[in-house]
Amino acid sequence: MEAYTIQGGNPLRGEVSTMGAKNAVLPLLAACVLVRQPVHLSGCPDLSDVRNMLRLLESLGCSTRRQGTELYIDASDAQEHVMPENISKLMRSSIFMLGPVLARLGRADFTYPGGCEIGLRPIDLHLQGLRALGAHIEEAHGHILCSGKLTGGSVHLDYPSVGATENVMMAAVYAQGDTVIHNAAREPEIVDLSNFLNACGGFVHGAGSGTIRIRGGAELHGVEYAPVPDRITAGTLLLAGAATQGDVFVRGARPQDMQAVLAKLHEAGCDVRVYEDGVRAQMRGRPRAVRRVETAPFPGFPTDMQAQMMSLLALSRGTSVVAENVFENRMQHVAELMRMGADIQVSGRIAVVRGVEQLTGARVTTRDLRGGAALCIAALAAQGESVVENIALIDRGHERLEETLRALGANITRIQIDE
Ligand code: EPZ
Repeated sequence: MEAYTIQGGNPLRGEVSTMGAKNAVLPLLAACVLVRQPVHLSGCPDLSDVRNMLRLLESLGCSTRRQGTELYIDASDAQEHVMPENISKLMRSSIFMLGPVLARLGRADFTYPGGCEIGLRPIDLHLQGLRALGAHIEEAHGHILCSGKLTGGSVHLDYPSVGATENVMMAAVYAQGDTVIHNAAREPEIVDLSNFLNACGGFVHGAGSGTIRIRGGAELHGVEYAPVPDRITAGTLLLAGAATQGDVFVRGARPQDMQAVLAKLHEAGCDVRVYEDGVRAQMRGRPRAVRRVETAPFPGFPTDMQAQMMSLLALSRGTSVVAENVFENRMQHVAELMRMGADIQVSGRIAVVRGVEQLTGARVTTRDLRGGAALCIAALAAQGESVVENIALIDRGHERLEETLRALGANITRIQIDE
């Protein structure tokens, strides 16, 4: 198993750049199934989740190629509607392929993606949305069997699910007739998918608002496209700078995608400055506690930043309350932070974080992607050496995080340890 050793205490200082967002690239790769011509996606990070999505595309008959940060996908010959279980189980995001495969091929046989470290992650909203477009869906023996020619319709999502919104958007582009999605997710990655589909010749309007209108039946053509910068990686790096009382500039970060996080950084006493080409966070002295952090769908505070924010608050003056309102099991980093001396009490989805003056290095285990990033932040600020285990989970969403952090002055090394 791979781990990080981190010697804490160095303030992080300097400039780093963002790449295309993992949570934009994954649905964009799924959307390539709708396009019978070559697609070129630029600035794509080399993450294990992205590699797995490319494998899913290849299992459907698509050709894929990576050249540095450039991805070339050609779905002209996509013809396989069965998603191999061994691949779809690798990653929750395989469910994003359901809508495009069904729309393109008229049928889809997927295995139920199941839950993950942060929750059960049901797919009822995905299936509800596709059924509203005329899909016939059977669920049996862990398989989801979909068939039918899709027709436009009205979809109301009981919850503004990011993945369900994306699945329905992609299916609706191919459906005959017009579709409207009510209570749609508003994340920047939804807008990015809409921009991609329109660049390919689709007609998607209203993305970013709660109501998205799609005219179906478009013949999509190939395109060169640059996915939106990763607001979660950018936020994570800014928080690492703040937690170590440093000064970090993230080139390419888009403040309009990060308002909730930047507001909390400011509330914690960080000097946050936004520029045309990025965002800078400088922390002098110990952070202040914030009254509350409530995770919510965009534009609320992102659940993908909850753990990283908690690492900062663990070092703050005062007491903060953190509520994880999106996923039911996203507090697993708390036990690990407490091994480093954090004073946190959890009751259900609520954590009360009493800031301490100093965290101490310890051996800790990554339980999920963003929790692992939070443990790295805490270790960078802690006194002494930490070992962060099971960093394969961090590699899912951060490409060689140690290199990025080292460029900012961190003392971090990737090592092999016994299981
Ligand atoms: C996307 O997951 C992101 N993943 C997640 O990022 C992110 O945390 C999440 O959106 C929320 O912003 C990708 O984009 C690849 P949801 P998704 O559907 O689409 C419930 C990361 O660390 N729900 O908006 O799966 C669900 O259980 C990952 O990068 C249903 O009940 O999130 C959860 O409680 C983690 N039924 C809530 O909605 C459904 O059919 C939000 O889930 C679908 C979802």
